[in-house]
Amino acid sequence: MKTEVENYNPIARLIHWLSAIAIIGLFAAGLWMVDLSYYSEWYRTAPHWHKSIGILLSGLTLIRLVWKSVTVSPGIEGNTLEKWAAKIAHGLMYIVLLILFTSGYLISTADGRAIDIFDWFAIPGAGALFEGQADLAGEIHFYAAWTLIILAGLHAMAALKHHFIDKDNTLRKMIGASK
Ligand code: HEM
Ligand code: HEM
Repeated sequence: MKTEVENYNPIARLIHWLSAIAIIGLFAAGLWMVDLSYYSEWYRTAPHWHKSIGILLSGLTLIRLVWKSVTVSPGIEGNTLEKWAAKIAHGLMYIVLLILFTSGYLISTADGRAIDIFDWFAIPGAGALFEGQADLAGEIHFYAAWTLIILAGLHAMAALKHHFIDKDNTLRKMIGASK
């Protein structure tokens, strides 16, 4: 039998907030870096960092999902519609993250190269798996990134609405301060 909990556990909270910061940073850095000129000192470094942090985040997300499946999460608050909307939004964010990781990998490895993670280790590339891979994966990556940021924005607004208008524990349980 599962025991009820009031807060997300500390590891789930840490991963949630670290991931949120990484995702917002990756989004801003992604939009900025694609317009850099060859002569910018960031031309190589920015994509290297973007890919390294993106791959590390994909590993963290895998750990997050395993952790979520072996621990208990607190219940979602609000009316039936809000509970469903929250569940669908959470699920969609995980799915869109998966699309971002896959498309990011496919853009980066289309030319046969591996992905170096901060010069610590490398993820092998599978080379070109289909025609026009870098372009198609790039388009998907772009739209997926916008989809995730819009979903996360709505999600954050919902959390603030629960906190300031409904005055319930929704936001507190992600900070570890449920009353
Ligand atoms: C949450 C995760 C991620 C977010 C939010 C994100 C976001 C973005 C954004 C907004 C762009 C600019 C797209 C454009 O304007 O065309 C971009 C480009 C790019 N991203 Fe990501 N990204 C993520 C993960 C990854 C990962 C895991 C990789 C690689 C393993 C990756 C590799 C790339 C590459 C190579 C580009 C350049 C694409 C091009 O030259 O058109 N990204 N990313
Ligand atoms: C890129 C940004 C973000 C992403 C991708 C994201 C993603 C998620 C996901 C997937 C969950 C569900 C956790 C689970 O698996 O049980 C969640 C829960 C939560 N997030 Fe975020 N989040 C982001 C930013 C934020 C921000 C900025 C806030 C606050 C303003 C926030 C507040 C919360 C709260 C309160 C919950 C718990 C909801 C509940 O269980 O009722 N998140 N988030």
